[in-house]
This record gives sequence, structure tokens and C-alpha cells, in this order.
Amino acid sequence: MSADTVLITGAARGLGEALARAFHSAGWHVGVSDVDGAAAHALAASLDPEGRTAIGITLDVRDVAQFEAARDAMLAQFGSVHALVNNAVVTKARPVLEIDPDEFSAVVEVNLRGTFIGCQVFGRLFKAQGYGRIVNMASLAGQNGGTATGAHYAASKGGIITLTKVFARDLGPSGVAVSAIAPGPLDSPAVHELVPAAALSALVETIPVRCLGDTGFIARTAVHLAGRDAAFANGAVWDANGGLFMR
Ligand SMILES: NC(=O)c1ccc[n+]([C@@H]2O[C@H](COP(=O)([O-])OP(=O)(O)OC[C@H]3O[C@@H](n4cnc5c(N)ncnc54)[C@H](O)[C@@H]3O)[C@@H](O)[C@H]2O)c1
Repeated sequence: MSADTVLITGAARGLGEALARAFHSAGWHVGVSDVDGAAAHALAASLDPEGRTAIGITLDVRDVAQFEAARDAMLAQFGSVHALVNNAVVTKARPVLEIDPDEFSAVVEVNLRGTFIGCQVFGRLFKAQGYGRIVNMASLAGQNGGTATGAHYAASKGGIITLTKVFARDLGPSGVAVSAIAPGPLDSPAVHELVPAAALSALVETIPVRCLGDTGFIARTAVHLAGRDAAFANGAVWDANGGLFMR
């Protein structure tokens, strides 16, 4: 049997890069997509210089036509698509009373609308072929309102958890499983850029396990949820937050 294939959004850096590496090393064929197309192509080339098992794709998740073109590029290269990971994000931290409504919309447009479009474009394909897996990257912020991030980020992540449930209910009968992962703060470039070192140490002290999360573990969890045997995880939200939020 040939390898399963996955498209990952926002895959040029951070958790997205870890996702691309984890799927590729698990034997998947990978579409490495990002609005930063040059970085996506560079990462794909580092995974497979010959472009047989990994391809770079320029994809701005706000745009339906670009999502459809990415789907078509995957089909042209690999013949079929089995999974989508909606990972692309804009992360902003700002006190709620200071958020400009335009900034609120801009964050929601990438995080929530982008995930919605991805689920729709690939949901239609997966429903038609009778098989598919969608893994949405949510966040602890979408469950508890956020520790280091703004209301726009947190609200968009809460919306992603809700969208996961709606698509899971709608697509489940067609052989498609849709799930989400809700990580707490990860040892990742975005967290180190967003949170000053002193504040980060204080934040870590509030986490029961006293460390930031491992992007590799989150990425391997996504590979697990995208597996052929993952049907029963439909509609699930997988927490990984060091015990910051237990429910
Ligand atoms: N880093 C964390 O601690 C953490 C915690 C919880 C959840 N998450 C989630 O994990 C995912 C990845 O987070 P990260 O910290 O690695 O992010 P990051 O900011 O490091 O990387 C995000 C990527 O998305 C891309 N991107 C931005 N706008 C885009 C657009 N319009 N279209 C396509 N790509 C676009 C960027 O170019 C970048 O490569 C996000 O969904 C985030 O909410 C991260």
C-alpha cells in the first residue's frame, strides 16, 4: 500500500515544522504549506530534495481559491490526500480592553476562518472519497481564556474547538474523523518571542509539571490522530497542558 498523504498549514516553522518532520519520519507524504512560501519550499526540500515525498506549497489559509489549489497540487503530486492539519496561526497578546476591532478580525480571519475553509474544502473531498482525517490545532487558551495570549487568539481557538465538533458530527458518517489538540504553552519560537524571559519563568512555575510542552510530542499526537485506526477519536479535543487545566 502506498503512503498516506497529509497537508499541513502554517508548516514553515514552530509546531508546524515539527508536524511536517513527524509525519514525514512516520512515512507519510507531506504537503508543507505556509503563507511564507519560500520557507515552506525550503523545509520540504530539506525533507526530500527530490520532491517525491514532500512538496512545498504557498498557501494563505484566508483564501478559498488558494486552499483549493493546494488540494489540487496534493492530488497532482501524490494522487490522493488522506489528512489535513489546520495549524496556521496568528498569535497576538494584548489586554482585552486595548484590542482594536480590526486587529480582532484579522486574528480571527486566519485562525478561525482559515480553519473553517480548510475543513470545508478538504471535508468535501474526504466525504466524496469516503475517508479522511482532519486534525485542528486548538489551544488551552480556547478552553480557559488564555494565559499569555489575547482575547482574539483565545476566542478563535475556542471557535476552533466548536468547529471541530460540528465537522465531526457532519463528516463522521462518511468515514471522516475530525479532532483537535489543545496544547498549553510549548517550548516554541512563538512563546519565546511573545513572553519575556522573566515572565516565562513565572509562567512555568504555575504549570504543575514545571516545564513547557514539547512540540515533538504534540506533533506525534497529531500523527496518531491522523492514523487509519483513529476513527473513534472523532470530535475529541486532546488536552496536553502539563496539568494547567484539568477537566
Ligand atoms: N506555541 C505554543 O505554545 C502553542 C500553544 C497552544 C497551541 N498552539 C497552536 O499551535 C499552532 C502553531 O503554533 P506556533 O506557535 O508554532 O505558531 P508560529 O507563529 O510559530 O507559526 C505559525 C505559522 O503560521 C504561518 N501563517 C501565519 N498566517 C498564515 C496564513 N494566513 N496562512 C498560512 N500560514 C500562515 C506563519 O507564517 C508561521 O509559519 C497554532 O495553531 C497555535 O495556536 C501553539
